[in-house]
Amino acid sequence: MNEKIAEVVPLPGVPAEGTSAVLCGLGTFVPPRVVPNADIAARLDTSEEWIRARTGIRQRHVVDPGTATSDLAVEAGMLALKSADIEDVDALVLATTTPDRPCPATAPDVAHRIGLDRIAAFDVNAVCTGFLYALASGAGLISAGVAERVLVIGADTFSTIVDPDSRATAAIFGDGAGAVVLRAGAPHELGALGPFDLGSDGQDADLIMVPAGGSRQPRSGTEDERYFTMAGKAVFRKAIFQMAGSAQSVLHKAGLRVRDVDRFVIHQANARILNGVADMLGQPAAKFVRNIDDVGNTAAASVPLALTAACASGELRPGQQVLLGAFGGGLTWGSTVLRWPDISVL
Ligand code: UT7
Repeated sequence: MNEKIAEVVPLPGVPAEGTSAVLCGLGTFVPPRVVPNADIAARLDTSEEWIRARTGIRQRHVVDPGTATSDLAVEAGMLALKSADIEDVDALVLATTTPDRPCPATAPDVAHRIGLDRIAAFDVNAVCTGFLYALASGAGLISAGVAERVLVIGADTFSTIVDPDSRATAAIFGDGAGAVVLRAGAPHELGALGPFDLGSDGQDADLIMVPAGGSRQPRSGTEDERYFTMAGKAVFRKAIFQMAGSAQSVLHKAGLRVRDVDRFVIHQANARILNGVADMLGQPAAKFVRNIDDVGNTAAASVPLALTAACASGELRPGQQVLLGAFGGGLTWGSTVLRWPDISVL
């Protein structure tokens, strides 16, 4: 037989050989307490209508005092393992900007409480891009042969760091956790993660930050300096530009065209940002999954929560070409692609 004919012809964006990380489980958790826009409008100088029209948010879920990020992460992680129908993984990567404590990392505690003792467990902080960075880290552990299965969790409780009196942030952020299970598999399988595009721009680190509480300003600062701050307008423009650019980069690496993407599941920062990215990519806004109305901006939990909402509604179906993307403090951004697998969401 002609050797050329016998060669495996790779699908666009799919390496012909090697080990890929395959998404095989999905689980999410949001705290039961719902804060509708009306509650924010009753306290602050804003209105239900302003929040709805300018952000697309209708309500957010918020933890009660005493509930920590790990509590949400444990619930989401356990559901993801159940959805994948497995009990063990070799590593846990937790994306969070709101760890239970500044030291140690929250991931080992989450692993222990899920019953995953003695596995590799570490935190990743890329703010709202955290889930994409954690996903890339988990996929890297698998393709390097360090792990066979990895639990990747994005969990944040921004209600514990936003100024409750700031309409600019208290109206936008919500709490939640989302998790996926990755397993070693073949590049052509449904669920196999394609290439990643990850980037950062530390020149704009001040646009999204908590000024005090780190080594620059240890345990000092006024109360205000211990709160999360965001230069909303500048961040808004950069979020659109960087998420659209990152999507184009990852599609180029994958050998795909923008129109090949059936669904974009990107960070739910603001409904107008989703529309802006759709415009920049020349794609219909209907291709962009949205659950921001229900949960607000949940930082590292945003992408897996959106995936779950889209699975539950039937918007995401096995075989569809999906692009995941995010943007956040750092500044940071990231994207990857996969063909959606046949997984059960509990
Ligand atoms: O997740 C990580 C990345 N984060 C993001 O991507 C978020 C990006 N930024 C945004 O989503 C938007 O910039 C915000 C939702 C934060 C703000 O919306 P905006 O349409 O960009 O408002 P703005 O910052 O341009 O402010 C317009 C006006 C200002 O008043 P003046 O100066 O024109 O009098 C703000 O003080 O709206 C005011 N404003 C509000 N008014 C009522 C800001 N927040 C509120 C509010 N209610 N909650």
